[in-house]
Order: sequence, then structure tokens, then C-alpha cells
Amino acid sequence: MDLDMKDVVALCKRRGFIFPASDIYGGINGFWDYGPLGVELKNNLRDLWWKAMVVTPPIGPDGTPVQIVGLDSSIIQNPKAWVASGHVGGFSDPMVDCRETKKRYRADHLIQRIADKVKVLADIGSEEIKIKGKVAKAFAFPIDATNEEMDRRLKKLGVKKGWISHDGTMPELAFADFSKQDLETLVGPDASEPGTLTEPKEFNLMFESHAGPVQSDDNKVYLRPETAQGIFLNFKNVLDSSRVRMPFGIAQIGKAFRNEVNPRNFIFRSREFEQMEMEWFCHPDEVEKWRDFWFEERTKFWRAVGLASDNLQMRKHGDDELSHYAKEGLGTSDIEYKFPFTAPDFGELEGIAHRCDFDLTAHQEHSGQKLEYMDPVTQEKYMPHVIEPAAGLTRGALALICEAYTVDESRPSGVYLNFHPALAPKKAAILPLSAKEEHVGPATKLYLALREEFAVDLDIKQNIGKRYARQDEIGTPYCFTIDNDTIEDGTVTVRDRNTMAQERISMDKVAEYLREKMKPAGANQEKEAA
Ligand code: GAP
Repeated sequence: MDLDMKDVVALCKRRGFIFPASDIYGGINGFWDYGPLGVELKNNLRDLWWKAMVVTPPIGPDGTPVQIVGLDSSIIQNPKAWVASGHVGGFSDPMVDCRETKKRYRADHLIQRIADKVKVLADIGSEEIKIKGKVAKAFAFPIDATNEEMDRRLKKLGVKKGWISHDGTMPELAFADFSKQDLETLVGPDASEPGTLTEPKEFNLMFESHAGPVQSDDNKVYLRPETAQGIFLNFKNVLDSSRVRMPFGIAQIGKAFRNEVNPRNFIFRSREFEQMEMEWFCHPDEVEKWRDFWFEERTKFWRAVGLASDNLQMRKHGDDELSHYAKEGLGTSDIEYKFPFTAPDFGELEGIAHRCDFDLTAHQEHSGQKLEYMDPVTQEKYMPHVIEPAAGLTRGALALICEAYTVDESRPSGVYLNFHPALAPKKAAILPLSAKEEHVGPATKLYLALREEFAVDLDIKQNIGKRYARQDEIGTPYCFTIDNDTIEDGTVTVRDRNTMAQERISMDKVAEYLREKMKPAGANQEKEAA
């Protein structure tokens, strides 16, 4: 069944997963707050990634565990670091301004990927292009146009809805590689005359601030656009202070900031988000082996936390998509997820890039500090190459929510979230059948015992149907009900969220029961078939 993102967003707000940031002031584009349940879900995903990477990293191709250490570096670094990394010079989107309407449009390279090498020189509404075998027309939209506005505009132009996807994975300005002459004949989307568009200008995606009270160019600083650079900056510190030897990894989870031109699709592309990145340093001769190894490990991870194989795919970047750091390397392969707004296509969840020795070499040149590695056995001196699995934590949480969202009209809530128990914000709810002391007493006792080990809810109020419905909507996998039989024989009812089947188990077996159910999502294990 096709999932409507509006329903997902509504449930996230209604049940306290995700709210628009500054909601009471009407929100702020590209920023989101994680509510009581959202932060638990996100932390569960974060903790499983940390466990899989740092606490119990996988067994490597040679049969021994790989070495990975953790790091938590500062969001603001010396601005020279961002010059060296290429972000000050190159981390930008080409933008076009309209002199008449003062609106700004994105000249997005995405069209090249989607239209597959078709060169589109759009004369708005008149140029025919081929998108996935279908003939379509190229249209331009203001970067901040809502879906409704775009629908209205397409309708006005007599275009059947759905010809051009406008979900953020498609360009808002459907042309690429244009010349000055093309721009002169091009009519801006809201302009009355042709020739009002400026030539594309680079728009840097880094947020700027100033360190200290005086605001001048001398104390300009940047909020990090990726967690990766903090790792490269600490490569030498980690090597000198810990016992790691090549090959090894440094992992970091944290906030990243990008002044995205067009934040879209709920938390998929936002201006403040979280990343889970690991830089794997190895000998240049071994990059292919490690690239394949990490690709497989990372795919297993996403399956283990509950994403269905059918909704995951691997995509190798085309030559036109190479990042500034991957020019001569093996390039990047993405693990993609079929989000409701990309379906039937897929959207990036994690990139596994070969960054060559780009970053360490650049930081060595700019800082004047030697960053080469000397092999203590062979005495060989070399600049390590890097394989980087870089995932979005917040984007991963969105994939988990979309995957879990299950419509079931037969139950009072009409929907339940099918989270893997290890990811669910609440592992169980303890529900006394009535508010009478003979039910509430044992329920409270069970709750107090379980809360030492698990995130559990004690819910006493309302009729039992309403309480089940609430737990279904927040994705609690098990409800334990205390009733008259509990008083008689010490058993409780377990209700399974997905099947709604009930069975009775002994009250003193509940903790063991839950412990068993949490197990399969060990980060390197496959998801138990739901
Ligand atoms: N260090 C490499 C790097 O940052 P990236 O592909 O730009 O690579 C890695 O980012 C991951 O971070 C992406 O796969 C995505 O999951 C997440 N991500 C990137 N930009 C994002 C945004 N604006 N909003 C939410 N997540 C984002």
C-alpha cells in the first residue's frame, strides 16, 4: 500500500516523535525537534550503530575483529580546516537569481542523473525531455515552492499530475549545462519577460558564525557540514595516544549543518541533522577489499535494525557525481532506501566512499604537520587511504519510521508502528485491567522490576482497547495485562503488537521473555523475519 507522508508526519507529531522546530512561531524551514519518543528511537539507532562500530566491531576478512575507536570532536574548528578540506571553495550549489522577481532558483545537477545524460535546455514548458523512458516537459519552480503550489502551476499549464516528480529528488529548475545564451532566452518561472535570469552563482552550504564578540572576517567560523573532518584533524592525536595500528577506524556521531537550498521531505533533507561516520584508514593497496567489506557490513546493519531487503538497494555513483575528494578513487556507492516520497525510486541513506588520501594530504599541506603513517614492522612510510561509511542518523530514523508504519484498518488505532523491539522507544507496557488496587498493585510491582532494565510504560487509565491503540501507534511491541487470573495463578497476558495474539506467561518470566525478544537486532545480525 502506498504510504502518504502526510499521515506519517501527522502521527509523528500526534504521538511525540518529531515536531517542527519553533512550532509555536510557525516553524523554521529545514529544522526539526525530536519529541519524547523520537529522541528514544534516534538514541536506540545511534547506540546500535556505536555498538556495531566501536564496542563490538565486526570480524574482518582475515577472521580477527577489526579495530575502531570513537571520537567526539568540536562542531566548530579552525576555519583553515574547511579551506583544506575543500568545503570553503567547493561545497556549494550553483544558483540562479531572477532580476525581475528577486527569486532564487537552484540549477541542480540532479537532472543529469535522472534524465540520464539528456541535455536539457529548458524553454519553460516547451522542451521535451525523457525521464525514465517517458516524454516529459521541463519546468522551473521557485526553490521554496510547496508541493501544492507546484501542483497548481502544473495544472494551469495543462500538465497531468505526476509527469514530473517534485518531491525533492527532482530538480526544481529542469535544465543543466546552460550557456549565457540559453539563459537569455529562458523565461524565469514567475517572470513576464525572458532574459531576467542571472548566470549561475556558487552558493556555499556552510553556516557561518563568529567566534568572540567582534564580527569580522578575521574571526569568521563555520558550523561543520560533516563530522568526518573532525576525524581527519585528530588522526595524529589518536595514533599517538592509543594503540591502534593500520588498518583501523575512527568513528563519530554528531550534528552536522548544511544551509540546504531546498530542505524537503520532512527530516530527509534538513539544515541541521545528525551523521554517523567512520573513517577507515588502510594501506592504498587494500582499499578495494575494505570497500567491499564495509559495504556488506553496512547493508547487514540496516537489515538488522529492521529495514526490509526489498526496500534497500545499492547504487554506484556515476562519473558526474564524484565528490571533490573521490576524484581518482573507487568512487562512492550508496545504500539507498525506498522512501514513500521517492518510491518506486530510492533515496540515499548512507554513502560508502573511497576518499583516497585526499583529506590527510590536504591537512598535511595546509597545517604543515606530518600525517603519514610509518609501518612499525616494514618501516614503509605512506599516506593512508580512507574508506568512509557515512550514514545519516536522522535520515535513518526516518527510514525506520516509514518502514514501521503499517496500516491495519481492523484495529482501533487503524495503524501501528512495526519497530524491531530493540529499536522501539518503549519495549513494553504494563496494563492493569482495571484501576482496582488488586490489579494496580501487582502491575506496579512488575513495572518497578522491569524499569531497571527496559524502557517500559505503566498505563493505568482508560479502557484497555484505548490503551492498546496508543501502544500500537507508538510501536510498543508487547503489552502485559494484569487481571483476575494474575491474582489466582501469578500469570499475565502478553499481547503481541503485530499479530494482536495473546498468550499467558508467568509474571516472573516476563523479564526473561523481553530479554529474548530484544536479541535479534544485534547490529551484525540479520533482522528476524517479521
Ligand atoms: N562525510 C561524507 C558525507 O558527509 P554525505 O553523503 O554528504 O557524505 C552522509 O552525507 C549522509 O548524511 C547521507 O547519506 C545522509 O544520510 C546524511 N545527510 C546528508 N545531508 C543531509 C541533510 N541535509 N539532511 C539529513 N541528512 C543528510
